[in-house]
Parts: sequence; C-alpha cells; structure tokens
Amino acid sequence: MPHDQHDTPYVDAVLAYRRRGFTPFHTPGHKLGKGAPRRLRELVGETCLQADLAMAGAVEDTRESTGLVRLAEEHAAEAWGAERCHFLVNGSTSGVHALVLAIAGPGDTLIVPRNAHKSLLNALIYAGATPVYVEPAVDPVWGIPLNVTVAQAVAALRAHPQAKAMFVTSPTYNGLCADLPAIASAAHAVGVPFIVDQAWGPHLCFCPDLPVDAMTAGADACVVSTHKLLSGLTQSAVLLARGKRLNLARLESMVKMTQSTSPQVLMYASIDAARQQMATHGAELWRAAIAEAEWARERINEIQGLRCLGHEVLAAEGVAAFDPTRLTISALDLGHSGTELETILRDDYAVAVEAADPLAVILNVTFGDSRKDMRVLVDALRDYAARFADARGRREAAARWLRLRPPAFTRQVLSPREAFFAPSVALPLAECEGRVSAESVTPYPPGIPVLGPGEEIGAETVAYLGEAARAQLKVHGPEDLSLRTLRVVA
Ligand SMILES: Cc1ncc(COP(=O)(O)O)c(C=O)c1O
Repeated sequence: MPHDQHDTPYVDAVLAYRRRGFTPFHTPGHKLGKGAPRRLRELVGETCLQADLAMAGAVEDTRESTGLVRLAEEHAAEAWGAERCHFLVNGSTSGVHALVLAIAGPGDTLIVPRNAHKSLLNALIYAGATPVYVEPAVDPVWGIPLNVTVAQAVAALRAHPQAKAMFVTSPTYNGLCADLPAIASAAHAVGVPFIVDQAWGPHLCFCPDLPVDAMTAGADACVVSTHKLLSGLTQSAVLLARGKRLNLARLESMVKMTQSTSPQVLMYASIDAARQQMATHGAELWRAAIAEAEWARERINEIQGLRCLGHEVLAAEGVAAFDPTRLTISALDLGHSGTELETILRDDYAVAVEAADPLAVILNVTFGDSRKDMRVLVDALRDYAARFADARGRREAAARWLRLRPPAFTRQVLSPREAFFAPSVALPLAECEGRVSAESVTPYPPGIPVLGPGEEIGAETVAYLGEAARAQLKVHGPEDLSLRTLRVVA
C-alpha cells in the first residue's frame, strides 16, 4: 500500500512535542528558548526555538531508531521514485560523500564529469579512489560549462570498464541537463551504476513540464538539495537510491558516518513538509513558476545590453534539456561582470541574486515568486541598463572574462588522496608548471574545481590561475587564497 502523500508524519510529531509542553532536560542548552539571549529570540522567534530540538530524547529517541524518520523517508522515497531515501542535514555535499564511500575505495576508479561540484572531489580524497574525467565543452558565447554528451559517456565507459560508477551533474548550476536516460542505459549495459548529482533538481520529478529527473531516467542513485529550490530549510537534502546495483545497507552505514549524530528536527520536518507540498501540488506550483520565469526571460532579452540564457542552449553540446526556472543573466555587453551586476542590483535596487561570477548572475525562480517579484527584477534591470548604456571602454574589460577559460585537464599522476597526504611544499605559482598539485582550487561560485590534488599542473593552469589571482577571483581549496603560491607534492 503506498503512503498517503498528504501526510506529514514528521511535522506532526514535532507539533505534538511542542503541544505536549515537555520540561526539557535535553539539548539544546537554550531549553526551548527559555534561556535564549534576547537578540536570538528576536531573530528567530519563540515558535522556532520551541521546536529547535535534536532528536535524542525529544521527538524520537535516536537516529538509529527506525520508526518515525523511516516513515517520513518512505514517504519521500515514494514521492521521488526511489527504493530508499535518506534525509540529510549537511546538504547534498554529505550525500555525495556517502555515495562515493559506499561505492569505491582505495585504488578504485570512478568516471567523473570535470564540472563536478567540489564535494565529489573531496569524497575521492576520503575514499582513496581515482577519477577519470569526462570534460563537458564550454559554451563559446556564455563561457559556462555545458554537459556530458552520450558519446563522451559511452567512450569513458568503454575505456574504463573497471569503473565502479559513472557520475554526472545534472542539472548544472545554469539548469543544463544531460541526456540521463541514454547515459543510464549506456552505463547499465556494461554493468556500471549510474549516479547523478541532482542537487539543482529537487523539483524535476514533480512537474512534467520540467526536464526528466534522475530516478525516472533510471539512475541508481542521486542527491537532491531540498533547500536549494524547495521549502527545505538551508542544509537539508535527500539521498535517493535503488538497490539493483548498489549495496543499500552499506549506503545506509555511510550516510550515518557522514551525518551529524544530532540531526535537527526542524530540518527533517522541513523535508517532510517540502515533500508533501511537492507530491500534492508540485505540478501546478512549478507550472506557475515556469510561466513567471519565461515572462521575465522574454522581457530581459528585450533590454538592450542584457542577455538571459534560454531554450536556444538546447542546440549546445551535451544539453538534452533545460530548466527554464533558472535565469542566467549576462551584462558583459554593458561592460559589467556578473559580480559588478550583482553589486549594483543589491546596492541600488535591493534585489539579491543566487550567485554571481565574472560572466553572469544566476537567479532562481520558484513557486515562492509572484508576478510582482518578477516586475521588481525586470524594472530594476531596465533602469540599470539605461543608466549604464554607454559602455564604451568597459566592454573590452568585460570581454576579457570570456577569454578566462578553465584550463583543460592534464593527467592524474597520483590519486587525490595520495597527493593530499603526501609531503608537500608551497611554490610560487610561476614555478608550478610540471609539478603535481597537493590541493584543489575551486573558483566560487560555481564551486567547480579547476585543479584537483594529484593532477599535473600544466602551463594553461598556471596562466589561468595567474589571471584569476589578478582578477581577485574568490577561490576555495588552496592554502594561499591569493593564489601567489600553490602547494605541490614535494
Ligand atoms: C552541483 C552541486 N552539487 C552539490 C552541491 C552541494 O549541495 P549542498 O549545498 O546542498 O551541500 C552543490 C552546491 O551548490 C552543487 O551545485
């Protein structure tokens, strides 16, 4: 008997706890808000503090107990079309870590897209596995990574029959989806599990007007960030899996290993509520969001000097579907980088974007946005474009960003783990060519590494990082964030 998707077993249990009026001798120390400092109460409110519980001793006894959490996870597994679902409190990041640890160990090989999020690279360090990369092309006009093509996937599977799994990131940050059904078939034809980082696709399976989701396409597992585009509280995510090619018992152990032992009930409750909202009203909510996003896209593309990425991207390599609710907006034709556009929108118009990089800004449109919100955005962009219409002199500087292409992968000399733990030295960047990197470098956003531990540092990488340093690009990973030096294997 399938579960009734109108039910919210976890939310109900938290509400019941609050109604009961317990005298709490458990964590957290603020004791349901009674001891909380005034400023914190002002910020989050009594109601929230009265439900700020860890599970032990409160709503349920421990994470190990199978009753309530398992029931809520079963509802979610059914809603997302999986055999097993795990609620996560450290984002899709922790789901990726758990998946890699469950699938691969020292000496194993994984097929990984070069545009993978840094959580996958870090998981390789934890597991000791070695990546073989598939490199999606970069769009010549937008400068953004496209996606893995079916031909690339087939070639990688043929070249590495020993691979323990094939990973793909879909949708990308910009909403570009790979041909998941075809890649799943190719992987399964040679007995390789297919795993999708679907952090940016928690909504896909709930609306037929959105691109096909990973589990429907046949993936063996995926992670989705319920906090990114649904109503999950920040950090909440779910891991979805089926057991035909994966050991679900081992996966469960790895989930426990990578999660806090004090998962927060508000986060769990938010996943439960988000799942119910999607399962019962997802299609109509997302149809409305798509309509709002398309309304804005059309108007933004009419503004001189601005461009908003749209369905034309389907002609690009590796892009089988596009999530129209993601708005990628470039102001390079007005001489502004995405970072500059973000600052102007924030300071002058009180419009806050999802992310900005040198090339563009990215905005999320969801069922939480109304036509009024979209008008605020479009009006702000119209006014901005009129103010900065005279872009002479600025355009060349902006175009420089487009030429700042992530370097091509060189070769993996050591596994990420071997390089990470090897004796290392910090060398001036200019002297790093030909050396093996001991650390990763990830421009943020979008969080896609351009160099991983164990990789040979090529001339192209040295030149790119030099440019990135001059441009003061924000990076994660290296010890020296100014990029004047890099840590290499001694
Ligand atoms: C493709 C991709 N995977 C994984 C993650 C990590 O997700 P979370 O922030 O939920 O840990 C991100 C975060 O931006 C991402 O873009």
